[in-house]
Amino acid sequence: MILVVDDDATVRMSLGLLLKRAGYTVTAVATPGEALDVVRGESPEVIIMDMNYSSTTTGEDGLTLLRQVKIFRPEVPVILITAWGSIELAVEGMKRGAFDFITKPWDNRLLLSRVETGISLARDAAVPRPGHCGDENRFEQYGIIGRSPALLKVLETVERVAPTDASVLITGENGTGKELVAKAIHDLSRRSSSPLVKVNLGGISQSLFESEMFGHARGAFTGAAADRKGRFEMADGGTIFLDEIGDLDFSCQVKLLRVLQEHTFEVLGDSRPRRVDIRVVSATNADLPAMVREKRFREDLLYRINLITLHLPALRERREDIPLLVAHFAALSTMSSFPLRRWSC
Ligand SMILES: Nc1ncnc2c1ncn2[C@@H]1O[C@H](COP(=O)(O)OP(=O)(O)OP(=O)(O)O)[C@@H](O)[C@H]1O
Ligand SMILES: [Mg+2]
Repeated sequence: MILVVDDDATVRMSLGLLLKRAGYTVTAVATPGEALDVVRGESPEVIIMDMNYSSTTTGEDGLTLLRQVKIFRPEVPVILITAWGSIELAVEGMKRGAFDFITKPWDNRLLLSRVETGISLARDAAVPRPGHCGDENRFEQYGIIGRSPALLKVLETVERVAPTDASVLITGENGTGKELVAKAIHDLSRRSSSPLVKVNLGGISQSLFESEMFGHARGAFTGAAADRKGRFEMADGGTIFLDEIGDLDFSCQVKLLRVLQEHTFEVLGDSRPRRVDIRVVSATNADLPAMVREKRFREDLLYRINLITLHLPALRERREDIPLLVAHFAALSTMSSFPLRRWSC
């Protein structure tokens, strides 16, 4: 199957016709979101995608989609469709793993030969999918119990994104296991031997935010008796887990965004910029896109923290996991007096 992604219906139709006549099966979609749904479920032989989607003309949406697609299907060749004259964008796309690009208007014969080349190269390079041993219980080592299709689907994505440095936003109701999943992402990543530092952004007041996150030098303010390391510095080389990110004060959001964009920050009372290498995993039970519409959450911050979203289903949506969980906790409570926390069901 060849996946065509373009918001222009004429392009979808003409590419669809051309490829079908050449004997391929074609799935054509209009938005990056639909394209991601397709690649999560199955592996196309080739993806042909446009770089610009209604809201932008900078190609930013296309580059983001390319990164997302590469996380789920690193082996699938991607051919970019760029507007005539945007060669820089095409080069950037190639740097980020696209196989080739074509400019509009394209030459049909050239396009078909590129599709063919892509398919045959991918076939030659075919390797077994990494990390998938197929054992449905493999997440138990991270304390995640459950074999329902809804949970396994999320856990498969966890395996896909964990080895990358992509920012992940974990959503779901209280008690659905967001923190467990954040820890699994860290443990399955190349950063696992470095720290996983959790910050509960819901519990941080605006005045404490800077000293907590960036640290302070001795004497930076009254009461700062000694140097204090901030959470970003503690997480250097590892993962920072921004929990309850939907509760972060609006004025602090811009300060957080700056660090995530530039990977540098300043310790209070010390103006030398410090550089950190961190991977960001965030979690919330809030509806962040709705908060963006209500102007309570910054859109640019949401974009930064959310290359991939993982939505954890509530237990009521995966009742078949209940017996497994009961058995798990019963076994734990006979070993110790295990404190049962709240459940979402
Ligand atoms: N699939 C699961 N298997 C085993 N234990 C689970 C699972 N999901 C949740 N739990 C347990 O339920 C409790 C809550 O999980 P966790 O703290 O990860 O949820 P959360 O989504 O972060 O909740 P909150 O929104 O309240 O912070 C923990 O004790 C966790 O170990
Ligand atoms: Mg939590």
